Amino acid sequence: MSIACADLTKVYEGGQSGWPALRGVSFTIEMGEFAVVTGPSGCGKSTLLNIIGLLDEPTSGKYSLNGRNVFSMSDSERSDARRDEIGFVFQSFHLLNRMTALDNVCLPMMYAGVDSREMRDRAADLLHKVGLKGKERKTPLELSGGERQRVSIARALANSPKLILADEPTGNLDSVSSGEIVDTLFKLNGEGITVVMVTHDRELSKRVARNIRMRDGRLEQ
Ligand SMILES: Nc1ncnc2c1ncn2[C@@H]1O[C@H](COP(=O)(O)OP(=O)(O)OP(=O)(O)O)[C@@H](O)[C@H]1O
Ligand SMILES: [Mg+2]
Repeated sequence: MSIACADLTKVYEGGQSGWPALRGVSFTIEMGEFAVVTGPSGCGKSTLLNIIGLLDEPTSGKYSLNGRNVFSMSDSERSDARRDEIGFVFQSFHLLNRMTALDNVCLPMMYAGVDSREMRDRAADLLHKVGLKGKERKTPLELSGGERQRVSIARALANSPKLILADEPTGNLDSVSSGEIVDTLFKLNGEGITVVMVTHDRELSKRVARNIRMRDGRLEQ
């Protein structure tokens, strides 16, 4: 999964001239990399991740995902790519609290039209993979923070994405759970999944070859 961004800008509407959250960001991430994005609060990390993940559009610039120019894709091609190629993990989990862990993991497969038996088997396998065997029927509110985040990683893996985008996935977790989440992401990267992770954890940025440091909507060189 390669990501190539050239001179991306993002101006949020509001005020007289809007708020420039990205002011010309260019970089590439190659297939199989583990890239860590760091920078002070408000510097544009989530904005950048949301654009990479096709959840939001830049105001100007170029972005190609696996060699495809994202702007020449139709809305439905973009939403297919988001569903089939990209898995998201958020700081606040974004799980549905009234559904079981298993059903939360099933959701993306339901949207992809996977057969119900196959979907449930795969969701159970993914929950086992992230160390949650026996917790399939619990709802998020019956799980610890670290366990919730592992459910959301299993959900991110549901449609076998080639890219995982994680926005401060350990931001709400204690250090032991954080370590487990980071280990899980490293393991997935070892299996060939490209990972882009936003974090405030400086130690983590020392462990990866690829660091993207941001400040005030720009890359810090
Ligand atoms: N929907 C929005 N509308 C207007 N301004 C926004 C919106 N989202 C973000 N911003 C502004 O854009 C800038 C970048 O925000 P962003 O969320 O990308 O920062 P961040 O680096 O992820 O910060 P944090 O580390 O606190 O999560 C901030 O100044 C923020 O106030
Ligand atoms: Mg953010």
